[in-house]
Amino acid sequence: MKIPTPIATLIAGIAITLISLWVGQNNGLMPVAASEEALEVDGLFNLMITIATALFILIEGALIISIFKFRKLKGDETDGPPIHGNVPLEIVWTGIPVVIVLVLSIYSFEVYNRMGGLDPMASGGSAPTEMADSQQISPSDSDRSLIAMAPNQGQVALGLGASPENQGKDPALSVDVMGLQYAWIFTYPDTGIVSGELHIPEGQEVKLNLTATDVLHAFWMPEFRIKQDAIPGRTAQMRFTATKVGEYPIICAELCGSYHGSMKTQIFVHTPEDYQQWVQQQQLASTDNLEQAVAVNPAQLSEQEFLAPYASEMGVDAQTIEQLNASSENVAEFLATSN
Ligand code: CUA
Repeated sequence: MKIPTPIATLIAGIAITLISLWVGQNNGLMPVAASEEALEVDGLFNLMITIATALFILIEGALIISIFKFRKLKGDETDGPPIHGNVPLEIVWTGIPVVIVLVLSIYSFEVYNRMGGLDPMASGGSAPTEMADSQQISPSDSDRSLIAMAPNQGQVALGLGASPENQGKDPALSVDVMGLQYAWIFTYPDTGIVSGELHIPEGQEVKLNLTATDVLHAFWMPEFRIKQDAIPGRTAQMRFTATKVGEYPIICAELCGSYHGSMKTQIFVHTPEDYQQWVQQQQLASTDNLEQAVAVNPAQLSEQEFLAPYASEMGVDAQTIEQLNASSENVAEFLATSN
């Protein structure tokens, strides 16, 4: 039985397409997607894997087939046919990569735009942008500049701003992030909370204002598919929306010194109610209720009351303490009278 070549090619084409599409969607190379931005990035990544898989099967397949089909026969010492140039073939092998590159560049640009990459610091008029209204790009401005400027820094704005649908809206939560050798410090300007971990509510847009005190660091949250350099003397912005409750790593992704590898912390995505509870706990622990929250204040206790827990731990009962007290008073009295 001999299958005609066009049908064999068609079957191979369909098989390669199906396999590539499946691998593209099920590559399992990315960690959990925990933000809206992650879904955008994964769409692009999966398309690239799909194309790469198709090319891999096509090229490696042609190579393997050629090894067997066109290999030198025993005793064949002749030269190959002198082929010189093939215009249609060259058009095809130039045209296909051009189309692939164009599709990927337009698609990736669109993903970058939807993540707010064209709009860092230009919208959502909170503190950093209010300083220079003249340079601020109006949110209603339909032809947005491709290079956003940081109004109060006079430099190109860095990071991810509002996504097009959130233009002009303030984020639900704003957190200042400071990178230093070798930790991340999170300050919540609205509540005054300072934390070594990032806690945010699910489903609400969060804005991070990133900077560094000493050297370059890179703030990377793999499950959120976002990464941004933290630069001394400059502020970068990152806006994102978490979609999955959980605990995820925050990693420094820039070699910043000998303990760079240990510059890690966590982000906790809470339900909005749990988040409010965390805020209250933090405020309770850090402010007016210090006396109750930290420990019993020894100044408010008598000597006996203060020593009681230690005494019972050492197996000394109250009576013994009484006696000790009495005898020490006797000694003191004796010393006082003898002088
Ligand atoms: Cu900070 Cu590496």
